[in-house]
Amino acid sequence: MKDIVRQKIGINVDIMDMLNEQIKKEAHSSAVYLAMASWCDQNGLDNSAEFFYKQSTEEREHMLRIFRFINENGGTAYSPEVSNVTHEFNSLQEIFESALDQEITVTKSIHNIVGKCRKVQDYGSEGFLQWFVLEQMEEENKIRKILEMFDLMGTDGMALKMIDERITHE
Ligand code: FEO
Repeated sequence: MKDIVRQKIGINVDIMDMLNEQIKKEAHSSAVYLAMASWCDQNGLDNSAEFFYKQSTEEREHMLRIFRFINENGGTAYSPEVSNVTHEFNSLQEIFESALDQEITVTKSIHNIVGKCRKVQDYGSEGFLQWFVLEQMEEENKIRKILEMFDLMGTDGMALKMIDERITHE
């Protein structure tokens, strides 16, 4: 059955497998950001909590974008299982550092798929992924700017409150 389906798809089969892996990564990001939102909520960091609620929603939207792309082009998208989500954090700075690590990992993964698209001449998928390349640049920059505030203002109680007040989630 799978082979019959695969014969008809417009996406290169290796790319489809990589995109299904990417779906898992986006779903994992969404779940991780939700855990971060919860920690921020519990620690009275309201803007940071809203920031991560919104990030979580955006990651789910990224996941769906890829999910639909696969299915709309004759492939089979697989609904991901999500595991390995920690709720243990020590500080807001640690959370943003870990969010940046998460984004850098996702960026590398997207670039890796784009590289493969070129190799196998799957230009449709490459074009589709361009949106993600730019989105990753934007997301990394957003988090780096927040981390700069910790360098400038410190991490004590007062600084933390001021940083949280400056975090936007529009
Ligand atoms: Fe969709 Fe921020 O990775």
